[in-house]
Parts: sequence; structure tokens; C-alpha cells
Amino acid sequence: MTVKQHFPICPTAQIAELGKFSFNVQYRGETRQAILVRFKGTIYGYLNQCAHMPKALDCEDGNIFDESGRYLQCSMHSICYDPASGESISEICAGKKLTALKIKEDQDWVYLTDKRAILNT
Ligand code: FES
Repeated sequence: MTVKQHFPICPTAQIAELGKFSFNVQYRGETRQAILVRFKGTIYGYLNQCAHMPKALDCEDGNIFDESGRYLQCSMHSICYDPASGESISEICAGKKLTALKIKEDQDWVYLTDKRAILNT
């Protein structure tokens, strides 16, 4: 029998459009930073690590979206990512992606449902 793991991360109302919520997970046995972002109403979860270098996307200035609000942007060297797929749309790191985390919105909460990750408390 398989037991599904659903870890409550935060209330959905805590993440405004183009907003973020930071948290930590145990991912494949390592403590990693993670983020939830809301884009066009949908919440997406990613490990908070740029595909270019092992830096958090918001390591420099705390921002997670670019000025247009259309892309996630690393504050270190400005690589942009599609918020929905995590794919780099910049020449540097073309073809690379952020690591997506499986999440689920249910009854006004966001849950971590990724088999590879456990929520750090
Ligand atoms: S570390 Fe993110 S763009 Fe270079």
C-alpha cells in the first residue's frame, strides 16, 4: 500500500499574484531552499536554485519576478525563466530548467506532494 504524503506549506492567500513564499525542504536527503510563486493565478513550486550557478533566485535583492512580471528572474546574473514551466528563456542556460516541486492547492492551502521532498519544520 502506498501512503501519499501531503505536507501543508502555507495558506494560498499568503501568496499574492507575482508574490513568493519561501520555505525549506529535505530534497533527496539534503536541506534545500524552495519557493512558491503565483503567476496568472496559479501557484508553482520550485527549488530556489538557479540553473546557472547554485544561487537562490532572490539572493541579491529579494525579487523573484522581472520588472515586466512575465518571468522569474535570478537576481545574480538576470537569467529569466518561464514561471509556469521553469524553463530558461535566456541564451545562457538555454534548455535548462528550474527544478519543479509537485504541489497541490486544496481548500485554501498549498501542500507539498512531491515524493522526492519532505517539508522542513
Ligand atoms: S547564478 Fe543565476 S543567473 Fe547566474
